[in-house]
Amino acid sequence: MNKKEQLAEVHNKWLKNCKCELKILATQGVPGDGNPNSEIVFIGEAPGKNEDIEGRPFVGAAGKFLNEMLADINLRREDIYITNVVKYRPPNNRDPLPKEVESCAEWLKDELEIIKPKLIIFLGRHALEHFFPNEKISQVHGKILKKKTKIGNTFFALYHPAAALYDGSMRDILIEDFKKIPRVLEKIGN
Ligand code: URA
Repeated sequence: MNKKEQLAEVHNKWLKNCKCELKILATQGVPGDGNPNSEIVFIGEAPGKNEDIEGRPFVGAAGKFLNEMLADINLRREDIYITNVVKYRPPNNRDPLPKEVESCAEWLKDELEIIKPKLIIFLGRHALEHFFPNEKISQVHGKILKKKTKIGNTFFALYHPAAALYDGSMRDILIEDFKKIPRVLEKIGN
């Protein structure tokens, strides 16, 4: 099976079996999406209203902003893989609870083990803190984080595009941090 087929199998398995309590409230699960052969995986927080309706990650305002920043570094959505820590929409877009993160954790791990990306990029504190519980996004945004894991060794943290969208100074920082991605990839090499 190629990576695309393996991912389809993983998503089908977890769409059926995920025990996340948000499942009752959400319209549907939102699996990761994009290029399974990408060397970069972006990890966001949880689906919002538009994602819940469409069943795909980052299709609303935050996704549009993300697409613009990708275009600035000559990448398209088809070039990357993108997923969320939590796969079901929390009511009124509240922060996901630790037990909801925990319920979806194996699903995320399965996705990452198939893709084995060179670089994992956190979009916001929920993704960062899932892998680095002691780090603060305000301190490590725009920085490379290293840790030997089964799913990869190199991580890069960014502010969440939804949080930065309407906050001028955070927006500028995110745009600047985002432009470092090509250099980070170069540094990692092959
Ligand atoms: N915000 C996220 O963290 N994920 C999405 O899929 C959409 C918005």
